[in-house]
Amino acid sequence: MVGKRIPKQKKIIVANWKMNPLSLREAMSTFSAIKKTGSVLRNVQTVVCPPSLYIIPLREKISGRRVFVGAQDIHYENSGAFTGEVSAGQMKKAGVQYAIVGHSERRASGETNESINKKIKIGLGEKLNMILCIGELVRDEQAEYLDFLRREIVEALDGVSRRDAGQILVAYEPIWAVGRNARRADTPADTQETVLFIRKVLMEIFGETFALNMPILYGGSVDKNNAVDFLKDAGVQGLLIGRASLDAAHFSSILRDVEDM
Ligand code: PGA
Repeated sequence: MVGKRIPKQKKIIVANWKMNPLSLREAMSTFSAIKKTGSVLRNVQTVVCPPSLYIIPLREKISGRRVFVGAQDIHYENSGAFTGEVSAGQMKKAGVQYAIVGHSERRASGETNESINKKIKIGLGEKLNMILCIGELVRDEQAEYLDFLRREIVEALDGVSRRDAGQILVAYEPIWAVGRNARRADTPADTQETVLFIRKVLMEIFGETFALNMPILYGGSVDKNNAVDFLKDAGVQGLLIGRASLDAAHFSSILRDVEDM
């Protein structure tokens, strides 16, 4: 199966459902409602990343081109004795087009830049579009967090070719802004500065032409109140949305707002 290119002109809105919802029935009904909205939008590509056991039933519901199912993680080997894991090849065959790697919640349970790098390479080999999550735990006055971000990018993308760079998205998610214990979202203005820095690091790795084409997403406490502001003012091409993606009506209204911005 060949990969689908990341659309350069569209906004990419990724729903990360994490370990929710509790039942397949709820997953199906939330997904149906999101799909109904997402499949008629021209300017938005919607990606829903459910728990992996819901991927196949949800995938079977897809008919349009504009709503994709994604994986929240993949393993760094394609098969073998890895209890509890799912591989990039298995995800691809199940109909997945995008895979998140390096989410802060996975890094918190031991994921390293080195394993993320292996995951990216194996995912690219399967022609998946890879969403690399990066983000600092704290933002210090001395801007040491920028070195931290640089290392996350450089080590995760080590050995990735320019040709494959076209299948990579970078999701900037400051950890202090992610999830239920988040203090607040970042501001679009501060995000814009960080996004410029990320772009610069990508240019150092892949050269200007390739790096300029790589989508950068923002994630961390995005909801209906700030989604469009981030896309307008933070220099990002998309959003990675956790909590606000579990409510179909709320998430659908974000999708429509982004379509109309
Ligand atoms: P949040 O999660 O939108 O609930 O902060 C974002 C994420 O974890 O990707």
